[in-house]
Amino acid sequence: NGVLLVLLAVAILIIVHRNLLNLSDFLDRENPGQILPFEAELSPGVRQKTERKRDEIPVLITATEDRLGAVIVAMNSVSRNSKANVAFTIVTLNDTVDHLAWISKTTLKNVKYKIVIFQPELLNGKISKDPKMLEATKPLTFARFYLPMYIPEVEKAIYLDDDVVVQDIQELYEINLKPGHAAAFSDDCDSASAKGIVRAAGNQLQNNYMGFLDFKKEAIKKLGMKANTCSFNPGVIVANLTEWKNQNVTQQLEKWMERNSEDLYSNTLAESITTPPLLIVFYKRHSPINPMWHVRHLITGAGNRYSPQYVRTAKLLHWNGHYKPWGRTTSFSDVWDQWFIPDPTGKFHPVRKHAD
Ligand SMILES: *[C@@H]1O[C@H](CO)[C@@H](O)[C@H](O)[C@H]1NC(C)=O
Ligand SMILES: *[C@@H]1O[C@H](CO)[C@@H](O)[C@H](O)[C@H]1NC(C)=O
Ligand SMILES: *[C@@H]1O[C@H](CO)[C@@H](O)[C@H](O)[C@H]1NC(C)=O
Ligand SMILES: *[C@@H]1O[C@H](CO)[C@@H](O)[C@H](O)[C@H]1NC(C)=O
Repeated sequence: NGVLLVLLAVAILIIVHRNLLNLSDFLDRENPGQILPFEAELSPGVRQKTERKRDEIPVLITATEDRLGAVIVAMNSVSRNSKANVAFTIVTLNDTVDHLAWISKTTLKNVKYKIVIFQPELLNGKISKDPKMLEATKPLTFARFYLPMYIPEVEKAIYLDDDVVVQDIQELYEINLKPGHAAAFSDDCDSASAKGIVRAAGNQLQNNYMGFLDFKKEAIKKLGMKANTCSFNPGVIVANLTEWKNQNVTQQLEKWMERNSEDLYSNTLAESITTPPLLIVFYKRHSPINPMWHVRHLITGAGNRYSPQYVRTAKLLHWNGHYKPWGRTTSFSDVWDQWFIPDPTGKFHPVRKHAD
């Protein structure tokens, strides 16, 4: 059944891809001279396929309509901070494709990227049908479960949440995965992250499995996992897609996603719907990512723990949690602003305290 769904999804993707190609033909006729990324994929003259493929760093990122500025900042920091040959796969919903013309109207137009449409139908029957839950469940957060489907034919790839600023991504890409591991994540228990978590969650400590999974439930007990095992943050993933496929990671994740309706998971924050299946499937089966490569909990307020010096030396900043650098109150939004490129369509504006 799962296999059929995946096949169906792939078929839909191919159709969508063809539609996009036709769209790009159309656009090209409208604006002669503008080379669209979709086209570059096809024309051998435009793309020196064979030799460059090897060193290409594939990066998957999702683009959500109401926070497109985040994708722009992430892409801009990645491409300007690295000489690496990065190829972005931007997974988005159909309604957002037009708005993504933002990219092609800026200096980012020379960055290698392709846009892929996520079909929310992919998740039918796998996540709660309760409309209130669906609201909280942002379908694109599940795109990372399907990495090999979106980035086929490569062995190693990176997934990034959109709310990040990244230094030289080549270094992240070179993180070694242990044999047999399909992914690397940054653990929540190194001292820097752990302190942030205590503050972020108030009185609820959420840096171990107990914070995400209900260990009173039989299905969880049966797995024999230790409840006090350190959790990890799936906002940055370095993946070995060969292993991912060999171990059927996507199917395993789908299985645990479906069981969401059994209330196995500790809370209903959107992000926590995505995290528990990953915690289960990668329990004691993932490699570490250096904490400096995933500095998070950039929370605001008095007694903010990180010094500006520390933030400057961070390799990757992740504004996880509720406060976003394009929002009204957050820390270090000045760093984020340095990478922001205004939206030529005028639809997206960072909210600032002194905006008026
Ligand atoms: C795209 O265009 C090609 C050639 O112009 C055509 O054969 C094909 O049916 C079109 N695809 C879609 C999905 O419309
Ligand atoms: C995408 O949106 C367009 C226009 O709104 C619509 O015609 C098309 O059928 C949609 N495609 C998919 C795959 O949902
Ligand atoms: C990925 O996993 C495969 C299968 O275990 C292994 O042969 C390969 O060396 C790994 N590649 C990387 C880059 O870790
Ligand atoms: C993965 O799925 C395939 C096909 O369903 C199956 O043959 C294989 O044994 C599975 N591998 C693992 C490690 O579960």
